[in-house]
Amino acid sequence: MKLLDIPFNDRRRRYLVVHPDGLSNQLAFSSTTTTQAFEALGSSRFFVSQDQKILAKVVPDKFPRRQAPLKWLLRDYLEKRWLGQTDARKEYRSLQVLRRAGLATPRCYGWGVSLNPGNHNGSLLLMEHVQNAQPGGEVFNKLDEQGRLAFLERFCLEVARLAGAGYAHRDLHYDNLLIDKNGDILWIDTHVRRLPTKSADQWPALKRSLTVTKLRGEAYHSLAETRLHALFIGDESAASHRG
Ligand SMILES: Nc1ncnc2c1ncn2[C@@H]1O[C@H](COP(=O)(O)OP(=O)(O)O)[C@@H](O)[C@H]1O
Ligand SMILES: [Mg+2]
Repeated sequence: MKLLDIPFNDRRRRYLVVHPDGLSNQLAFSSTTTTQAFEALGSSRFFVSQDQKILAKVVPDKFPRRQAPLKWLLRDYLEKRWLGQTDARKEYRSLQVLRRAGLATPRCYGWGVSLNPGNHNGSLLLMEHVQNAQPGGEVFNKLDEQGRLAFLERFCLEVARLAGAGYAHRDLHYDNLLIDKNGDILWIDTHVRRLPTKSADQWPALKRSLTVTKLRGEAYHSLAETRLHALFIGDESAASHRG
C-alpha cells in the first residue's frame, strides 16, 4: 500500500493506493481531448499521466453530500470507501478474474481510495493507457455485415471462455472493450459476477448478460445467444465427460 499525493489538473488529491505496481511518487495527471472523448463514452472521469502511459479512471460519489447527507455517508463514504466497495477495487478484481480466464486486459498499476470526505472522487483505478486502440462500438459500426459476424464470433468465444472460468460479465457492450492495433480484443470496463453454482441456473444467468440494446439489435443478440449457448453447453458436456 502506498499513500500518494497526486495532482489532477494541478489540484492535489491524496489516495491510498493498494497493490501499487511500478508507480513513481512524481505522478501527475491532467485532462486532455483524449480523456474528454473517453468520458463521452461512459460515466467515469479520466485523466492521463504526463508521459501518456497511465490512465486514471475516477468514479465520483453517487449521492451529493449536501443534498443527501445520510445516503452519502452510509453508501458513498462508509460502505464504498471504508468497507472496500469502491468501483476501482471491484474493477481491479474483475480484471484479475479476466486475466486468469485467459482474456487480455490493459495492465493495472493499482487501485486507490480517498478517505478525505471533501474529495468526492473517492475511487481511483490506475491502468495502462492503451495507445492506438479503438472502442469496440466504433469498430463494430464501421464493419460490413460479414465483418460484424466475425467480430461477434470472437466476442462470443471470449465471453464463453470467461463463463467456462465461472463468471458472467455484468455490462456486456462493445464500448467496454477495445480493439488494439493488432486487431485483438482488450477488455476494459469489467465488472463480473460469479455464475450460480447450480449448473441448471448457469445458462439462464449467462443468457441474461446478453441484451438487445447492448448488442445493437435483435439479429446480433439472437446470433450471440445461439453461439454462446453452443459454446457454453458444449464446454459443460466436455467438462462432465472429463470429470
Ligand atoms: N485503459 C484504457 N486505454 C485506452 N482507452 C481506454 C482505457 N480505458 C477506457 N478507455 C476508453 O474510455 C472509454 C470509457 O471507458 P470505461 O472504462 O468503459 O468507462 P465507464 O466506466 O465510464 O463506462 C472506453 O470506451 C475506451 O474508449
Ligand atoms: Mg463502460
